[in-house]
Amino acid sequence: MIKIDNKKKVFVLDGKNYSYIIYVNEAGTLQFVYYGKKVDGDDYLTSVYAKTLAPEPNGFNIDNAFNGMPSEYAFFGKGDYRAPSTLFVREDGFRASRFVYKSHEVVDGAPDFGSLPHARRGGKTLCIVLKDELSDMEISLNYTVFDDSDVIVRNAILRNCGKNKVRLNKAFSFCLELPDAQYDIMRLQGRWAQERMPEVTPIGKGTVRVDSSQGGSSHAMNPFAAILRKTCTETSGECIGVNLIYSGSFAITAEASCFGALRLQGGINDLNFEWILDGGEKFVTPQAALCYSAEGLGGMSREFADFFRNYIINPDRAFMRRPIVINNWEATYFDFNREKLFSIIDAAAPLGIDTFVLDDGWFGKRDDDKSGLGDWFVNEKKLEGGLKGVAEHCAEKGMKFGLWFEPEMVNEDSDLYRAHPDFAIGKRGVTPSRQRNQLILDFSRKDVVDYIYDAVSKVLKSCNISYVKWDMNRFMTEFYSEKLPYERQGELAHRYILGVYDLAHRLTSAFPNVFFEGCAGGGGRFDGGMLYYFSQIWTSDDTDAFERTKIQWGTSMCYPVSAMSCHVSACPNHQTQRITPLATRGIIASLGATGYELDLTKLDDCEKEEIKRQIASYKNIDELVLRGDLYRLSSPFNSNYFCEMLVSKDKSQAYVAGERIHGVPCDLNYIIKLKGLDPNKRYTVKELGITASGKTLENAGLLLPRLPDFGAWTWNITECK
Ligand code: DGJ
Repeated sequence: MIKIDNKKKVFVLDGKNYSYIIYVNEAGTLQFVYYGKKVDGDDYLTSVYAKTLAPEPNGFNIDNAFNGMPSEYAFFGKGDYRAPSTLFVREDGFRASRFVYKSHEVVDGAPDFGSLPHARRGGKTLCIVLKDELSDMEISLNYTVFDDSDVIVRNAILRNCGKNKVRLNKAFSFCLELPDAQYDIMRLQGRWAQERMPEVTPIGKGTVRVDSSQGGSSHAMNPFAAILRKTCTETSGECIGVNLIYSGSFAITAEASCFGALRLQGGINDLNFEWILDGGEKFVTPQAALCYSAEGLGGMSREFADFFRNYIINPDRAFMRRPIVINNWEATYFDFNREKLFSIIDAAAPLGIDTFVLDDGWFGKRDDDKSGLGDWFVNEKKLEGGLKGVAEHCAEKGMKFGLWFEPEMVNEDSDLYRAHPDFAIGKRGVTPSRQRNQLILDFSRKDVVDYIYDAVSKVLKSCNISYVKWDMNRFMTEFYSEKLPYERQGELAHRYILGVYDLAHRLTSAFPNVFFEGCAGGGGRFDGGMLYYFSQIWTSDDTDAFERTKIQWGTSMCYPVSAMSCHVSACPNHQTQRITPLATRGIIASLGATGYELDLTKLDDCEKEEIKRQIASYKNIDELVLRGDLYRLSSPFNSNYFCEMLVSKDKSQAYVAGERIHGVPCDLNYIIKLKGLDPNKRYTVKELGITASGKTLENAGLLLPRLPDFGAWTWNITECK
């Protein structure tokens, strides 16, 4: 709900459990007042908070910004020496600005974002227009509020209302000014095969920067950060999470001022960013989803999970039973032929697996990773009978067929590159920095996107394909487009991502029955922007059942478990060489969109029975994966047990899955207190053969099983009727 005191210019935004309050101060600038647990009554409309929080200028004139000024969108060059939210240069070179309130309106839903990912529906949006007193620039600050969510969505739209061009050097999506900086900050950092490891550090004085300048959101840092009160835990205390709905280079900064206030802001990374705004043009920044939680990190995660499922992921897919996939990558890598693929399909069908996904290596001259990318036509020499033959074989076995693409890339050894070397990002004459022997196509160019759209569409029309895995295996270097003029080269990285979104938009619209999965060398682009188009994402190339407990734990901080594609793979594991029981691999993969990625023809009967059993049990709990609430019970980072729990919204069903990392002789008793149940309902824990009330299970808990190294267990919990 949005309440406005038009006279005092106080704006009160109420979500499910929070209030966000801003007002226009005496100097005409838009100022932060309050963000936190819902405030009762109309107190704030009497400006109680505005009065108590009004800054003390300490000799500065409030007409100007100064170091303590809690700006809703910080401007540059008027005495506020902290990082601004925007920085732009007018044609005469002058770059100071002073934004004051101009107007506001409340609209249903959100402003038009085109193919830039955004909250799809519902909500009310407050749009406040600020006008620069020193130039012809205007900024609209948008705040979308949902009655059923603790997520508030923000973005900024910058408009050049004059005739002369303006160069944007920075255009963040949001700025949040908090009165104190007594927080720690959590980021999800990592690397290939070890994505999204939570790390919490104090903010201290100065700036903590969580960012990627790689042209993609990256393995190294997720476009998410949370600030945590020192008392914040998994289950209680206050935190504020920020999740950028964006897949390109980003930055989130937390800056503690010398006066002790905290400026948290973020958006497109300003490093290597420039954008020319001609007269009359606007620049739309990506949305940022902010979540205030008074119920610790767990509360924040559940709100983000609901937000993604309800507002970002394609509504036709968000709650759809996911295909149970067998993917041939770890089974064959590039070394396959028709017979090999058919034998995997034959082995998969009786186990309950419903979709076969043919991974890398089916097209062009692609027998290793040195050639072929860009040549999206089937290699009939390798795959006799082509894709049609594989699709038909799947259909005969009652299965669906999926296909891997890497649409954004090209190998120099490809027909595409030989014909169009200028299609690649980089400067001719400068040796390109190759990663995985490949270059990036210049998706800032419409003709390149059109070309790939046609090529991929042709394949998707050629036979019955119901699933696409969209991979992306390198990040940007030599940021240069042959087609952009000198002064627009700084636009390349953002234009590239807009091109990716455009292609994703066109393909997902043209093929509405195809299920799209995202991937980037594992989870190198696991973000809200991708989730808008791809309902699940390959979480990591590390499929080891212990490493995955950590990766999935971290990913669940701000994404729903249904967004995580999780496969059971072979042992010794290809990434870690670790051996874990097949049952454990199945249990850990059941905490997401489960699937398989191993050579099924090499399994013995016992193993096949185990997989059959896993799939049957998964079908009993997949509704919890799709719709349930996640409770992280025991962390693999600081204990010998990993344990998570999914609870249905009506609290009638729950699923606990855990892994004991090491067997320990004469170990202590570890008791886990369940969470999220209805204290007054009685439940059966199937595997333990007991019944108990929610109160007992939550307060007294259950004894964790003593299992050998990497042993895993599940508890299926149902309400006694
Ligand atoms: C990286 C992906 O993460 C893998 O799953 C696989 O698709 C390979 N690329 C294929 O090249």
